[in-house]
Amino acid sequence: KKKIGVMTSGGDAPGMNPAVRAVVRAGIFLGCDVFAVYEGYEGLVQGGDLLKKMEWGDVRSFLSLGGTNIGTARCAAFRERAGRLVAAHNMILNGIDALIVCGGDGSLTGADLFRSEWPSLIEELVSTGKLTKEEVAPYKHLTIVGLVGSIDNDMSSTDATIGAYSSLERITEMVDYIDATATSHSRAFVVEVMGRHCGWLGLMSGIATGADFIFIPERPPKAGEWQQELKDVCSRHRAKGRRKTTVIVAEGAIDSELNPISSEEVKNVLVELGLDTRITTLGHVQRGGTAVAYDRMLATLQGVDAVRAVLESTPDIPSPMIGVLENKIVRKPLVEAVKLTKSVADAIESKDFDKAMALRDSSFEE
Ligand code: F6P
Repeated sequence: KKKIGVMTSGGDAPGMNPAVRAVVRAGIFLGCDVFAVYEGYEGLVQGGDLLKKMEWGDVRSFLSLGGTNIGTARCAAFRERAGRLVAAHNMILNGIDALIVCGGDGSLTGADLFRSEWPSLIEELVSTGKLTKEEVAPYKHLTIVGLVGSIDNDMSSTDATIGAYSSLERITEMVDYIDATATSHSRAFVVEVMGRHCGWLGLMSGIATGADFIFIPERPPKAGEWQQELKDVCSRHRAKGRRKTTVIVAEGAIDSELNPISSEEVKNVLVELGLDTRITTLGHVQRGGTAVAYDRMLATLQGVDAVRAVLESTPDIPSPMIGVLENKIVRKPLVEAVKLTKSVADAIESKDFDKAMALRDSSFEE
């Protein structure tokens, strides 16, 4: 009987619980045992109570729950080979040789490294007398399948990461609230949104709320020029009768190594225009709450496909990442998707924005 471990890793995202539910139930339906690995990779390293065999009823109600009920952590021990050796040992003791990991690019890269090291880890477990040749014989190959769970929508080779549309919905709702008070007082608001190095949440929430101006890392503001441009755009909108001013600042634009800006600077420019201005940092509300229908659907379809991918896996097939392209659930080689994601980030860092966009577009080709 195939024994599959499922874990959530890195920052939580709405839709992770529905993904775990889908893996558990599809696994049971297809004749597997499914183990929840609690607290991300920490659960593999510590084993014991952090590895729990799941029954059908254990994931009841997970569809509508935000966060991740099986916990998540950034595990320092797993970054070291010694930690991964203990993890491999715990997995074999529990008979697990397949892992479905729902997380961002860092978590998925860690998973693939684990797979490539697996044969040498097994050898070491035998040579150090922790396990016998006979005990490790059925565990020659580790299967890894990635589900991309992140609010940032920052992974290449997939149109959407699990959680991104829920976060976008939350931001849109919050900006609508802010707009109501802004309009009442005829005020300006600078709204900081998450997204790490990726401007997707900033850009899409700006479009969805009709913001006056959006700062994203992929198109950093031109030093010495953006101030006048911001003033011109906001004044033009005000001249048309708009009673509010909304400027979205993606966190990646603040952390940008090229041309970092701060919400305070943006506020000062708006104040120079004579606008009564406030700054709102939305913070972790953007990651909380129940998943929108799209993320529940995505997590469910992808969770089921992840189990199928485990059952169809052979040592010569590279670890797949389950994505969605043009509304179809697809499997992409995990390592390539991570590499491409990194190339896009590198191109942005070296100010080659056209290359970054071309690389990003290429990742959406079937
Ligand atoms: O990756 C998700 C995310 O929410 C990013 O948007 C943000 O940069 C980061 O995680 C915040 O991390 P933490 O919750 O550890 O402060």
